[in-house]
Amino acid sequence: MKNLHSSIVLIFSLLIIANHVWGQESTETWRPALHFSPKKNWTNDPNGLIYFNGYYHLFFQHNPSGNQWGNMSWGHAKSKDLLHWEELPVAIPKDSAYIFSGCVVLDKDHVSGLGDPKKPLFVAIYTADFPNKGEEQHLAYSNDEGLTWVKYEMNPILNIHLKDFRDPNVFWHEPSKQFVMVVSKPKEFIIQLYGSKNLIRWDLLSEFGQQGDVEKIWECPSLLQLPVEGKVGSKKWVLFVSSQGPYKDYVGMQYFVGDFDGKNFKNENSPETKLYVDHGKDFYAAIPFSNVNFEKPIWLGWALNWAYAKDQPTSPWRGQMSSVRALSLASTPQGLRLKQVFMPKMDRLKPQFKQANFKIMGTSKLGNFKFSNKKSYLIELEVSRSVAKNWGISIRGVGVNSNEKIDIGFDEEKKQWFVDRKKSGKIIHKGFLLEDRADLIKGKGKKIRLLLDHSILEVLAQDGLVAISSLRFPIAREEEFWLFSSNKETIIKQILILGL
Ligand code: FRU
Repeated sequence: MKNLHSSIVLIFSLLIIANHVWGQESTETWRPALHFSPKKNWTNDPNGLIYFNGYYHLFFQHNPSGNQWGNMSWGHAKSKDLLHWEELPVAIPKDSAYIFSGCVVLDKDHVSGLGDPKKPLFVAIYTADFPNKGEEQHLAYSNDEGLTWVKYEMNPILNIHLKDFRDPNVFWHEPSKQFVMVVSKPKEFIIQLYGSKNLIRWDLLSEFGQQGDVEKIWECPSLLQLPVEGKVGSKKWVLFVSSQGPYKDYVGMQYFVGDFDGKNFKNENSPETKLYVDHGKDFYAAIPFSNVNFEKPIWLGWALNWAYAKDQPTSPWRGQMSSVRALSLASTPQGLRLKQVFMPKMDRLKPQFKQANFKIMGTSKLGNFKFSNKKSYLIELEVSRSVAKNWGISIRGVGVNSNEKIDIGFDEEKKQWFVDRKKSGKIIHKGFLLEDRADLIKGKGKKIRLLLDHSILEVLAQDGLVAISSLRFPIAREEEFWLFSSNKETIIKQILILGL
């Protein structure tokens, strides 16, 4: 009897443990495979993006000891293909200050005089945040490609005695032969520009601000030159700022197009013009990679929103990065607009389905395509004509979860792209009940490219002129792929699905 009792106790304990472990593992189904997420613990902004010696380095805001914001330090990961990331030990740990966002540049000519002059030198410039006191800009350097760092003993390199003053981003400006830093006074909606010859001593060049969206905050600025498509050799300066996005109460990113003469940045649009980078709620704090020489600069952002970051229902990690996107400007009837296209070579993704010139009406499963939510997909859908109210792609749960879905499509009445995640599984915040919408850019076709990587969905429509990045947390263990065209018909020019 006693034996039976202890066996029952043992079986129950095993069941409890199994359930616990299973419960934890279950959030792994939400972990993206082609986007970076830390193995465990918290991340927000990408920091110090730099390409060197065959590797793309990603440093990131990290809490090394928990999956909520805190103990801010720089985590580190590297990748050869921008799809798969190898996580490395914490790069810059907190001290009496939190190590907030910043950048890394290669000090090619060793102008800083720091470190070993015979080895390549990475210089990190970041914000030291003294909780409840103030923020100043600090420097650290590394002679081993970012694995270990020495904090500069004469820090700070820049201090204007403000409580909020952060997120320096530095680039080399060839015409004026100086490094230029953009750094933010978040609550004043001001970006300051500084110049330096040696990365240590910084002189104020100018200020820009109080324009565009000034509703919430300005953080994580970057200033870079983008090629204008269709005009060989033509480039424009673009200032990016993380701020309030297109939705009130949610952060997002905006940009200003103009000119930079080595001292001042001039916005060529009216001060009231608001241009947003992404019309989803999950793209923030993006900064460009330094030390790359592609025709188009590349960047990535944090795929989450401060409004609900703490509620992301994953464990043991929380937070992830967007895909890497190549940046340019394109002429549109409304003026120059940002264009973002997926940068990584997707040749590891294998064709899964292709069909051209067919009609859809109502909601139907796609031919003989077998969707698996254990895979990541790149989907291209082009429509040639539609008289429907709206059309698009629907990823739907199966069986008991058949009312679960996420819809990605185009509203022909309002002429808007949309992502509707109202019924997409776990609704972690009221922000999920508000559709993400972006206006059609006239004359640029109706093609969608969509990267669906477990919990991350990135839509880059109209050749990248429209971006909508949204997270989802499906509960359904099995899902299916549907197309919809409500009320009337839509002619699909082509659908192509690649998967991995
Ligand atoms: C932006 C931000 C930055 C800051 C960092 C702190 O998301 O608030 O301004 O440096 O996060 O983690």
